[in-house]
Amino acid sequence: MQNLYSTKDDLLTRADKEKLLAQKGICIWLTGLSGSGKTTIANYASRVLHKKGIYTQVLDGDNIRLGINKNLSFSNEDREENIRRIAEVAKLFIEAGVVTFCCFVSPSHQMRSQAKSIVGANDFFEVFVSTNLDTCEKRDVKGLYKKARKGEIQEFTGVSSPFEPPQNPNLILDTENKSIKEIGDLLVNELQKIIQ
Ligand code: ADX
Repeated sequence: MQNLYSTKDDLLTRADKEKLLAQKGICIWLTGLSGSGKTTIANYASRVLHKKGIYTQVLDGDNIRLGINKNLSFSNEDREENIRRIAEVAKLFIEAGVVTFCCFVSPSHQMRSQAKSIVGANDFFEVFVSTNLDTCEKRDVKGLYKKARKGEIQEFTGVSSPFEPPQNPNLILDTENKSIKEIGDLLVNELQKIIQ
């Protein structure tokens, strides 16, 4: 880019911040259908980690789309831009040493691999929340599947827009017949191996 000068060299380093916090910054990228449990699991895990003295942040689709990404739709192109911006934001948190949960449908391989390359492969821990469509639709916590089936929402993931399951995630969380506590504790155990 012309006329832009990064001031990164003047900043305190990531290592300085991680040392202060006594933890490692990382992105936990949760992908899965709407209503699969991504945000609920991340909120639970972040509370458990917080009690253990780990500094966390949860970013999720509904909140980000009400703020920084309020101008984006659910077309493939806008979803890609949604994920690109989120990955850049996550990177800022990670560079500040924060354990950052990203809860986004992120339905395509292309979107997730873009996120991974922006964040950096070493800082990217991919979690597939594999709750199947039937279960998400039965739960229909936000009433969106009903609207999508009636044609009131276009391009709804799983109904009228595709979801490509990740081929090689770091962790798969199956929420069928398990409590949030069981699933969240499993995630926390995995994370503790890599953040301290
Ligand atoms: S993504 O596909 O661009 O990654 P994101 O995670 O930000 O999606 O937002 C998904 C959330 O937006 C869903 O949980 C749901 O509440 C809401 N939503 C509204 N319309 C749609 C749609 N057409 N497809 C998927 N989710 C939608």
